[in-house]
Amino acid sequence: MDTYTIDLTQPAPEKEPQRQFYFMEKAKQYVQQKSEEAGRPLTFCVTTFGCQMNARDSEKLVGILEQVGYVEEPEEEKADFVIYNTCTVRENANQRVYGRLGQLKHIKKSNPYMMIGLCGCMMQEPQVVEKLKKSYRFVDIIFGTHNIYKFAELIATRFESERMVIDIWKDTDKIVEDLPSERKFSFKSGVNIMFGCNNFCSYCIVPYVRGRERSRNPKDIIREIERLVADGVVEVMLLGQNVNSYGKNLEEPITFAQLLQEIEKIEGLERIRFMTSHPKDLSDELIEVMKNSKKICKHLHLPVQSGSTRILEKMNRRYTKEKYLELVEKIKTAVPDISLTTDIIVGFPGETEEDFLETMDVVQKVRYDSAFTFIYSKRTGTPAATMENQVPEDVIKDRFDRLLKEVQEISAEVCSVHEGTIQKALVESVNDHDHTLVTGRLSNNILVHFPGDESLIGQIVDVSLDECKGFYYIGKRV
Ligand code: SAH
Ligand code: SF4
Ligand code: F3S
Repeated sequence: MDTYTIDLTQPAPEKEPQRQFYFMEKAKQYVQQKSEEAGRPLTFCVTTFGCQMNARDSEKLVGILEQVGYVEEPEEEKADFVIYNTCTVRENANQRVYGRLGQLKHIKKSNPYMMIGLCGCMMQEPQVVEKLKKSYRFVDIIFGTHNIYKFAELIATRFESERMVIDIWKDTDKIVEDLPSERKFSFKSGVNIMFGCNNFCSYCIVPYVRGRERSRNPKDIIREIERLVADGVVEVMLLGQNVNSYGKNLEEPITFAQLLQEIEKIEGLERIRFMTSHPKDLSDELIEVMKNSKKICKHLHLPVQSGSTRILEKMNRRYTKEKYLELVEKIKTAVPDISLTTDIIVGFPGETEEDFLETMDVVQKVRYDSAFTFIYSKRTGTPAATMENQVPEDVIKDRFDRLLKEVQEISAEVCSVHEGTIQKALVESVNDHDHTLVTGRLSNNILVHFPGDESLIGQIVDVSLDECKGFYYIGKRV
């Protein structure tokens, strides 16, 4: 990382990221002072809700917290600084946050050093912030998805005032590079290639809380991955709400397929994953690149959402059932051993039994390795929330159960086709339940457990897949 001269007797610089390094230094002094007072180091605990974007954002928060002098504490009840990085894609995620905040209120009463920070997608909704301001006065810092890079500045501000610090931006065109971040895994990392979403699927709140689509500069992405590789990373997951539209709005436009080819050239990098791919923008060029690549993993997450063309149109997905199935055929022909996964919503407004059967039909035709199935959740402010014919709960529940059963049966069959083969697995951890086993991830994203120890973590090893247990394998090193 580049170093800057920081002089706290001077006013804060205007330029980023220098400004944030200034505030990290400032916040560090406050934390030091408080921990001397307390006679122990101050600790933090970040809890992440939602998707991989949020997981990556949390790594940035942890990077800043450690820079400022906080020490990680895995147990939330014991931490001096609790941060919730929230998700609002479905209503139940919000309910969980309010529930947990209620518990934190009591813990805070007995710890004079305790602070509570809330950030992430939920904070981008004005009615949420109103509710927090009114009924959750004990929260210390509230910020949104567009300004997490300002975390150090917000911490310093909180230490200097006794008031709730709230900083939410409606949108941004800014991307701040080169801030610290602390990786959860030493050998793999998420890498943002773009932020926001322009698709406005009619059920989805993400475009409203993550703002308009912005692609990072390819040079910045490559530089970040090169640094990660130099630091021991062998697998990257390129992150975006719709990676297939990467680069379209850059000053010098570049396609996602071209970006992948550039990343492929990075020496020492072994595996490349990406998510999410919107079917409407998946190009032939990308399929060709996947076919010829040695590093791109044999896994594609291709959310279908519904199998009914009528519902897809109401969802504003901009593809038909037939187009989706054609695309799947093209991919399977080009990359025969690819594993396909998907997201499906059940009970979108106006979904009839016929529509639902179309979804079942797609599931049976594609034969996904796995599928995330969701019950439609009404998100205030999205077009679908005011659509007529919201489906009754008992009907949705019945469809959901039928779908889940089908998905699981197919998934077990599809998963078992690799039984008896030898494949490369990246060892991720020692098995939680049996310490004589380690857990590795195959290129197609399936897990395999096999005898081994901690020293294998981060290595790619050959494993024979002896027995399929439904969604994972038991194997041995060969
Ligand atoms: N950008 C990704 C998805 C991000 S949200 C894409 O376009 O595929 C992850 C998943 O949550 C979506 O694929 C969808 O299946 C689900 N989801 C989004 N909004 C939802 C809602 N209102 N109710 C239920 N599920 C929803
Ligand atoms: Fe939501 Fe659609 Fe954007 Fe995905 S592509 S984040 S589902 S609006
Ligand atoms: Fe949730 Fe925000 Fe991701 S709403 S799914 S955390 S982009």
